[in-house]
Amino acid sequence: MELFKVYQTWDIEPVRGLGTSLWDKDGTEYTDLYGGHAVISIGHCHPHYVEAVGSQLKKLGFYSNAVVNGLQSELAARLGKACGYEDYSLFLCNSGAEANENAMKLASFATGKAKVLAFRKAFHGRTSGAVSATDNPRISSPFNVSDKVGFVPLNDIEAVGRELSGGGYAAVIIEGIQGVAGIFEPSDDFLRDLRDVCDRYGTLLILDEIQSGYGRTGRFFAHQHAGIRADIVTVAKGMANGIPIGGVLISPAIKAEYGMLGTTFGGNHIACAAAIAVLDVIEDEHLIENAARVGEHFKKAFEGDPAIKEYRGRGLMIGLGLKEGYGRLRERLLFEKHFFTGAAGADVIRLLPSLTISMDTADAFIKSWRELTK
Ligand SMILES: Cc1ncc(COP(=O)(O)O)c(C=O)c1O
Repeated sequence: MELFKVYQTWDIEPVRGLGTSLWDKDGTEYTDLYGGHAVISIGHCHPHYVEAVGSQLKKLGFYSNAVVNGLQSELAARLGKACGYEDYSLFLCNSGAEANENAMKLASFATGKAKVLAFRKAFHGRTSGAVSATDNPRISSPFNVSDKVGFVPLNDIEAVGRELSGGGYAAVIIEGIQGVAGIFEPSDDFLRDLRDVCDRYGTLLILDEIQSGYGRTGRFFAHQHAGIRADIVTVAKGMANGIPIGGVLISPAIKAEYGMLGTTFGGNHIACAAAIAVLDVIEDEHLIENAARVGEHFKKAFEGDPAIKEYRGRGLMIGLGLKEGYGRLRERLLFEKHFFTGAAGADVIRLLPSLTISMDTADAFIKSWRELTK
């Protein structure tokens, strides 16, 4: 059997990682400023994480959600405390798309309404409901296209108000910062107004923090820069540093009923042990502060850079909008300087490094960038 070829890959095979370094099968070292799409939050193969996952695997790898799993409750308590949503409850699943799928379903159950409002250029995942709320017709099949999802421009509060005033919307779903689109932020004022408009029309606010959460922007969640609270928050990516997991943080106003949500693998012992270890490292090594500090350093360093049209993002969620003529820069950073970065279209380089990134690594990247763009 061959693989179903849906991914365009670089001809590089990393076989080992440590911190922000990766080595391919020929022993060539690369610096990872992409974290496998914002997943590697505490660095590759962090010793505390390796120990926690390894020792859990030796004890018990999996049992179903029909029995008590104390690791789930420990994770819920730790996460609630770390992110400031202590009074919320946690539903565990396996990916970002699944977290959003459950969030939208829950909003619909709770309000009795059917529709969801999303934003232009949004990305919420590839399962059926999540892809319906994703503004990219190329990845929606006719089966996924839904008249239950509306789209309005980001930061356009009048458009949101017009839609919600018509009624029928269970939820508005919004990314803390739009990632796949190329790093576009909802303004703090917009988020505050959005909170008010949702309350006015009895619509729940879902914050998709799958890419922007877990400390990446210098706060646990990006929307916390605006000082608002969501009714539902979704998390995944950085949550367990590469072991599949997703989570839905749910307001106490939404009541659980047995059977309303469910999953076989969600909240399994290995994923919970990994997620708890991630929180240990984030706290012990003050990684949220580090994300803010190194993020600020990048921002200052790239100010007025001749290759950059626009610097977007917060902390370590960075979009470098390129001027014309730099279309091959990402490829050159990879093959000539051995830096992994991400992209959004042909003219945006995305940096989503591990929150453990040092100033020295940031400086090494800036130096290589300047050598290639001078
Ligand atoms: C904001 C956001 N939401 C949801 C998802 C989907 O997550 P997953 O690929 O784990 O299903 C992604 C993935 O890139 C994302 O960036």
